[in-house]
Amino acid sequence: MARFDDGRPEMSAEEFRLLRDHVYSHCGILVHEDMKFVMERRLWPRLELLGLPDYGAYHRYLRYDANRHAELEAAVESLTTHETYFFREPTQLKSFTDELLPVVEQRNARLRRLRVWSAGCSSGEEAYTLAMLLKDSRRFDDWDVEVLGTDISRRVLAMARRAEYGPSALRATSPEFLERHFVSLGNNRVRVRDEVRAWVSFGHHNLLDEVGSQLVPRMDVVFCRNVLIYFDLAARRKFLSIVRDRLVPGGHLLLGHSENLLNLGSDFEFVHLRGDLVYRRPELDEGARR
Ligand SMILES: C[S@@+](CC[C@H](N)C(=O)[O-])C[C@H]1O[C@@H](n2cnc3c(N)ncnc32)[C@H](O)[C@@H]1O
Repeated sequence: MARFDDGRPEMSAEEFRLLRDHVYSHCGILVHEDMKFVMERRLWPRLELLGLPDYGAYHRYLRYDANRHAELEAAVESLTTHETYFFREPTQLKSFTDELLPVVEQRNARLRRLRVWSAGCSSGEEAYTLAMLLKDSRRFDDWDVEVLGTDISRRVLAMARRAEYGPSALRATSPEFLERHFVSLGNNRVRVRDEVRAWVSFGHHNLLDEVGSQLVPRMDVVFCRNVLIYFDLAARRKFLSIVRDRLVPGGHLLLGHSENLLNLGSDFEFVHLRGDLVYRRPELDEGARR
């Protein structure tokens, strides 16, 4: 086995393939061939912590050790990107507010219930943003509203539940929103106000877990932004069939601006809003009851 000057072991091509496939089959994240050095660098602290001599031993640990599930979470944690901020992709959010919410309000007028899912929510900024927009619309004041944020990383979920943020998370937040929906904590830090937090809950969930997804209630709108970019075609297809099942018939799916369903052969309908292309589960869909 080759070693770097500082004694760090080099990851062989075979070890890379084994680790990449293991991570991929768990969470759909595909580490490309040219990212071997990134994987090597990011997983090295795990080997050090566990006292393992090389990446082959680390792979065996992930497969057979009693602690393998927790360690796989830690490995995925170190390989995922959690970049996010409040009011990301404002054009899409405007379409959501101005064009989708009136449709959903009309559809659910009898039930007076609304469910929105921020799937791959990272540290919570997206879920809270959606709750703030719902509050400001005043359409759902006395409705049963829940925005559910889920992520595979427990670390970011803990941050989401704390609901405290600094300047980087707020870089696209206008002063009016800051004033209305946040409490100042001093030192440039803020906390989301309790009335917004009351509409939001968070849960640990792997988007490719078919069985676990059955616990997610049927949703009116799903935001899954900047997650599919890390998935390959097969993982995207799997995710789409899961998310389609979790939407009410006629429910909408919104992806990030660099993601789309073209060439995926999914049976979503395309809906052109003024500022965005969104996707709809067909209305006449068998076996799709709330
Ligand atoms: C780049 S962040 C996007 C956050 C937010 N949706 C946004 O657009 O600002 C991607 C998030 O997806 C999560 N993620 C990646 N693979 C996942 C999976 N298989 N199941 C659930 N979450 C996943 C990561 O942990 C990360 O927090």
